Amino acid sequence: MEEQAKKVMLSGIQPSGDLHLGNYLGAIKNWVDRTDEFDNYYFMADLHTITVRQNPADLRRRTLEQLAQYIACGLDPERNTLFIQSHVPAHAQLGWVLNCYTMFGELSRMTQFKDKSAKHKDNINGGLFTYPTLMAADILLYQPDFVPVGEDQKQHVELTRNIVQRFNGIYGEVFKMPEPYIPKAGARVMGLTAPESKMSKSIPEGCVFLMEKPEDIQRKFKRAITDSDTQNCVRYDPEHKPGVANLMNIYAAVTGKSYAQIEAEFEGQGYGAFKPAVGEAVIETLRPIREEAQRILKDKAYLEQVYRSGAEKASYVANKTLRKVYKKVGFVAP
Ligand code: TYM
Repeated sequence: MEEQAKKVMLSGIQPSGDLHLGNYLGAIKNWVDRTDEFDNYYFMADLHTITVRQNPADLRRRTLEQLAQYIACGLDPERNTLFIQSHVPAHAQLGWVLNCYTMFGELSRMTQFKDKSAKHKDNINGGLFTYPTLMAADILLYQPDFVPVGEDQKQHVELTRNIVQRFNGIYGEVFKMPEPYIPKAGARVMGLTAPESKMSKSIPEGCVFLMEKPEDIQRKFKRAITDSDTQNCVRYDPEHKPGVANLMNIYAAVTGKSYAQIEAEFEGQGYGAFKPAVGEAVIETLRPIREEAQRILKDKAYLEQVYRSGAEKASYVANKTLRKVYKKVGFVAP
């Protein structure tokens, strides 16, 4: 009975690159912190990755590594349904239906589409354009209350809300209205070498990966761009000191300290003391995750058992929603 009363959380990450600190602080940490309060669904969004060309062997390897890292971050498969998106065909099936309830103009306004089509000019495919409706399907199949994501995915969750309004407006209360759930600190981690753009795998020198060695992480933090402020002082001023603000944001997210506490802690000390302290705090946060992920990754049978049982549980819930949708739009029951 108690299980049924729980609210639902759902999210996913594309296994298109190795997981990084932005993914962890913007999304995964929030998933782990709230595990006990919710009924949870977290997946590897492999269907999404092929909107950009992937090397097949790398995609397969990274999908399993991502699962091992989810578990190592603290997502216990007993309390979280962990699955691979392509193992649950209902995602693609509902994605098609929702394409017919999403407007060309809405999709054209999506920032991620604009960014990615600028970056991959030779491959602006239909999937890249309709990607947000697949994401809406990912979400709506599980009728979640909250979708824990970083700031950059908020627009897609907003689009999902528009689709819900349109669909429910025609057919009645089919979908629950989901809400984005965005962390206070870590919602938008910026690159260490270019604090004006978000941390992403495309600029590896400014990106800290979860599986990276401590000495490499420390080197990246020591080289992080701060500013040419002659006062050399740790103060939260995102407009004038974006690099310092980003490091403070990271430090706040991993230590739970407020900006005022961080300013007080480094009062009278310059960036020379601050940067390695942030590096050290990140290293200590990631160390147990890296070690545990390496251990889990060796146990292929365990991983297989986790993703199989995850897909079974996910399919059960997803198919229920899909059947309801098919009936509403007028398809003959098979
Ligand atoms: P993706 O794979 O690009 O990113 C996964 C999650 O990490 C967050 N994130 C960040 N947060 C803070 N700072 C950063 N620098 C940073 N970089 C990434 C993202 O906001 C996201 O929460 N379309 C999604 C994947 C997806 C999905 C879904 C998410 C597919 N279906 C359904 C939620 C629900 C994506 O490309 O995220």
